[in-house]
Amino acid sequence: MRPALPDFPWDSLAEDRALAEAHPGGIVDLSVGTPVDPVPDLVRAAVAGPAAGEPGYPTTHGTPELREAVAGALRRRFGVLVDPVSVLPTIGSKELVAWLPTLLGLGPGDTVVIPELAYPTYEVGALLARAEFVRTDSTIALGPRRVALVWLNSPSNPTGRVLPPGHLRKVVAWARERGAVLASDECYLSLSGPASSTDAPGALSVLHPDVCGGSHEGLLAVHSFSKSSNLAGYRAGFIAGDPALVAALLEVRKHAGMMLPRPVQAAMAAAAADDAHVRDQAAVYDRRRSELRAAVEAAGLKIEHSEAGLYLWITAGEPGRLTVRRFAQEGLLVAPGEFYGPAGARYVRMALTATDERISAAVDRLSTARLIPG
Ligand SMILES: Cc1ncc(COP(=O)(O)O)c(C=O)c1O
Repeated sequence: MRPALPDFPWDSLAEDRALAEAHPGGIVDLSVGTPVDPVPDLVRAAVAGPAAGEPGYPTTHGTPELREAVAGALRRRFGVLVDPVSVLPTIGSKELVAWLPTLLGLGPGDTVVIPELAYPTYEVGALLARAEFVRTDSTIALGPRRVALVWLNSPSNPTGRVLPPGHLRKVVAWARERGAVLASDECYLSLSGPASSTDAPGALSVLHPDVCGGSHEGLLAVHSFSKSSNLAGYRAGFIAGDPALVAALLEVRKHAGMMLPRPVQAAMAAAAADDAHVRDQAAVYDRRRSELRAAVEAAGLKIEHSEAGLYLWITAGEPGRLTVRRFAQEGLLVAPGEFYGPAGARYVRMALTATDERISAAVDRLSTARLIPG
């Protein structure tokens, strides 16, 4: 029998969606983080290039060109040095998140630690492996409990919070001492907020020498091209880190057929080789973040964290479902914070993924919206 999984939460937004769609100016859908900006031309060219004509099976490890391009991107963009042999492509990062506990051989009696407020698939991954999961951001709260896998996510979905280097270092040391694998979901690392900002000094990879001390032992960084290069439709991600862990995961994934289509490997290599489109996309989200932030705050709501990544984490000081309804009455669809854990019950999450035209419509509507209870 399959393990019991949570209900797919988005189905519960149907009424709010219908309400938002009925707005005379149309819905502004800020409920999911799905990219709306164009796929870069250099990626389209690569996917239609020679790789499209290769009749044979792709390799699970990916082409050497792909792994070298990814290692180059990690070095230039994030100051991370990895041997290309320790890069492993994944079919988007959701697949890896959902299956990592299973691929690592975890099962009943093993504990997976996930953030207090978290992307739902960390929990799903533990459940698929029939392992236990604990929601906490504090290693102290775990006491002497034996832990097999710890997830971090910075910048965070749903809160946009960036974990400071000191916190990352502490969790790395803790995981190593306990013999736990530390998986750092870095799918929003390219969207680290304006470089000039002093209150948000940019997120660091767990593989950055200032965090890991130069050794990748016990560490895996999980990356995605979905948000940084608008390739959510391509299913393009990778992991990098501890050579022994990556080699072990490669072995299982070979047996399981978890390989990336060859044209997608070419697309990913092209996206990894070019930083300009990533910088441009990050600047677009920085602009949308500051426009929406100002409008939401002017409407009287409070925003916490939200310094980077793809989301604003908002509270009206009431149950989030009620706030979702107030937004829907203005034609704006946002997600209730409870989707991301019980600690999110009085929050909503607003995604920055809408066209500039729709973001302007949202800002206009927020200027006259009634979003405060009472
Ligand atoms: C924190 C986090 N991890 C992973 C993913 C999965 O992204 P993808 O499978 O497109 O790489 C998402 C998607 O929104 C996410 O928010």
